[in-house]
Amino acid sequence: MTDWVELESRLFMTTGKRMPAVIVRGEGTRVWDVDGKAYLDFFGGPATVSLGHCHPVVAEAVADQARTLVHVSNAVYSIPQLQLAELLIELSCLDRVYFNNSGAEANEAALKLARKWGHERKDGAFEIICALDAFHGRTIATVTAGGTPRYSEPFAPLPPGFVHVPFNDIEAIKQATNAKTCAIMLEPIQGEGGVIVPDDGYLPAVRRWCDEQNVLLILDEVQTGIGRCGALFAYELWGIEPDVMTLAKGIASGVPLAAVLAKEHCSVFTPGDHGSTYGGNPLATRAGYEVVKYIIEQDLPAKVAEDGRYLEQRLHSMEDRFDAVSGARGKGLLWAVALSRESSAEVVQRCLERGLIVNNVRPDAVRLCPPLTVTREELDEGLAILEGVLAELDSGGVK
Ligand SMILES: Cc1ncc(COP(=O)(O)O)c(C=O)c1O
Repeated sequence: MTDWVELESRLFMTTGKRMPAVIVRGEGTRVWDVDGKAYLDFFGGPATVSLGHCHPVVAEAVADQARTLVHVSNAVYSIPQLQLAELLIELSCLDRVYFNNSGAEANEAALKLARKWGHERKDGAFEIICALDAFHGRTIATVTAGGTPRYSEPFAPLPPGFVHVPFNDIEAIKQATNAKTCAIMLEPIQGEGGVIVPDDGYLPAVRRWCDEQNVLLILDEVQTGIGRCGALFAYELWGIEPDVMTLAKGIASGVPLAAVLAKEHCSVFTPGDHGSTYGGNPLATRAGYEVVKYIIEQDLPAKVAEDGRYLEQRLHSMEDRFDAVSGARGKGLLWAVALSRESSAEVVQRCLERGLIVNNVRPDAVRLCPPLTVTREELDEGLAILEGVLAELDSGGVK
């Protein structure tokens, strides 16, 4: 039998550490490995298979579109792209959209848009204020924006024009703003940074500051958007509106698709400014259209908000019951269990052995981001596995 792990180590450019599981099939919240072992998937892609694995809506959309028109150049019009555009504009506070293939690309487009807006509308302003420990993707510009040195420093020299401030600190943003500032770019909740939820007043204060200073607010909702936090877009939770927003991950439940959306006043791209061969192709946007429509028809954001309240109570109760747990933070179906020690890798490994996939988002935090369709029974089943592992940790059973 092929040793897939050995093959990977021999052939692949190793850019990250994988869990020792070769996954061959998925259905709903479950996946199966090459040996037939089942896992509950509370990582979900991460936070990407919004409708779970191989949802019939996605499978049908992809199969039907594959028989009709997989790809056509953006030099002509194609209907699924326009249907999804219409839906996203109707559902969001933004006015225009451009489709991309990945979160990083959507953020690149947002950065280009903000720079062009600054050039044309704000005396050449080009600086973008970003948060430390953010994550916006792996291109040169987005690792620079991310403000996480281990992701950016090996690739120096980095592009100029990015200023970093601590997240959740409005005074730091105020201090960093000057005549050259064209935009502030933030995740509403820092996902890869460890599911860091800002204080309630932070994002509204940033919005007010942007208005006062004539600076664009770019919200990277690649992870938080499309229902993940208990509202279709996380900005709704704080009662604010961004000028520019990016989406990816959950938008097509695992079919590669992303989008940058902007308000009319800053939608400054003109022909020749941007482009993408695959971006928004019929296959991906048909999947995206059917996924977003289904999420709305089934009112999944409301269901996710309720799941969030349940998880809040269950995860905080772990804080009281396990020495290994120091806290829990998150919203909707995006949570981190904070650990008292840097033991998340062991927790992930133990969970995997017991048939639960979770993620060591930080050395001292385990992230849970199951599909939006996860059932209460599945949540309970996964939490029981996690609790079993935490009990082992407390009894010294895990290093
Ligand atoms: C907030 C955020 N922005 C951007 C990205 C990058 O998306 P992609 O991996 O699709 O390029 C991610 C990925 O985790 C993310 O969480």
